[in-house]
Amino acid sequence: MKGLILSGGKGTRLYPLTYTRAKQLIPVANKPILFRVIEAIRDAGITDIGIVVGDTAEEIKTAVGRGGRWSVRVTYIYQEQPLGLAHAVKVSRDFLEDEPFVMFLGDNVIQGGITSLVEQFQQSDWNSQIVLTRVEHPEQYGVAELNGEGRVIRLVEKPKPPPSDLALVGIYMFDHHIHQAVEEIEPSWRGELEITDAIQWLVEHGYKVFPYIHRGWWIDTGAPTAMLEANGLVLEELTPVVEGYVDRDSEVDSRVTVEKGAEIINSVVRGPTIIGERSRIVNAYIGPFTSIYHDVVVENSEIERSIVLENSLIRDVPARLQDSLIGRNVTLNRSPIKPKAFKMNLGDHSQVGLL
Ligand code: TTP
Repeated sequence: MKGLILSGGKGTRLYPLTYTRAKQLIPVANKPILFRVIEAIRDAGITDIGIVVGDTAEEIKTAVGRGGRWSVRVTYIYQEQPLGLAHAVKVSRDFLEDEPFVMFLGDNVIQGGITSLVEQFQQSDWNSQIVLTRVEHPEQYGVAELNGEGRVIRLVEKPKPPPSDLALVGIYMFDHHIHQAVEEIEPSWRGELEITDAIQWLVEHGYKVFPYIHRGWWIDTGAPTAMLEANGLVLEELTPVVEGYVDRDSEVDSRVTVEKGAEIINSVVRGPTIIGERSRIVNAYIGPFTSIYHDVVVENSEIERSIVLENSLIRDVPARLQDSLIGRNVTLNRSPIKPKAFKMNLGDHSQVGLL
């Protein structure tokens, strides 16, 4: 069994962060999403992993390397353009050979891993198994229709009215028949080779496609609000450890992780929250569901339910920051220079919500 992680794509919904960083490398609870995906696949006993990469190939290769850190072997597969999830399978043909594989979108986070899914598929004679989860608004997702025996008979994108409340999660199991399917299908109206069309092809040609109903949470981190939500859910599951320094004037509750070299001085930190390596929190309030990555300074400021990436500085901000995604090397402080005004230097597609 092999693993295939899709880590190409453009990440337009996360601009401006994804102009300069691969979306799959954005950390939730201070660990890149892609690392969490690799760990989930490794924990299911799969060590031969292909990663499909596009424009951000170099950055991903530098971060992941050959996989030794996780005791897996990583092969990179270059996809010249993000022409769809089924196209990503097509370009991975040589790597996958005729082995069954699990395909995992590199920007998805799932509670509880995929071990039981992989076991179930291995013990079955099915040609494909797709992970589904019950959602409140199925009309916003790709939805599966099952027959009386529980077999998948139809997949529909954003259906009105939806045939079920079972949405597709970005995790799929396939045997080698998928290779014929991705060759046979045509691009969709948006010009992509859709994996749902390839699965529909399997169904229509008599192959056995069964669901795996996932019961925990699952988040597609493609948009900023989802990224913050995933961050909160993963933080709730962390076992807190304090390896950094907390001074006697600070109040840090038991759900806070303080990484090595971090310092909390005269501050209040409420968990679940993580403070990254060498970050300094001084005269500040850090509220629940916040991830401060490494080498960040937060001073005389308040921040809650947010993600702050490395090397950023937040100082003397007069109002509480909330529900914010702050990139790398960002400076947010009070300007001593007159006139008294908001002075901004924002990248394309930045979004600022003022009081
Ligand atoms: P999407 O989130 O569907 O696409 P995207 O990353 O281009 O994002 P946006 O819509 O914001 O522009 O992709 C899901 C995952 O699959 C993501 O990790 C990128 C990856 N992917 C590929 O590797 N190749 C592809 O052709 C596509 C479409 C996505």
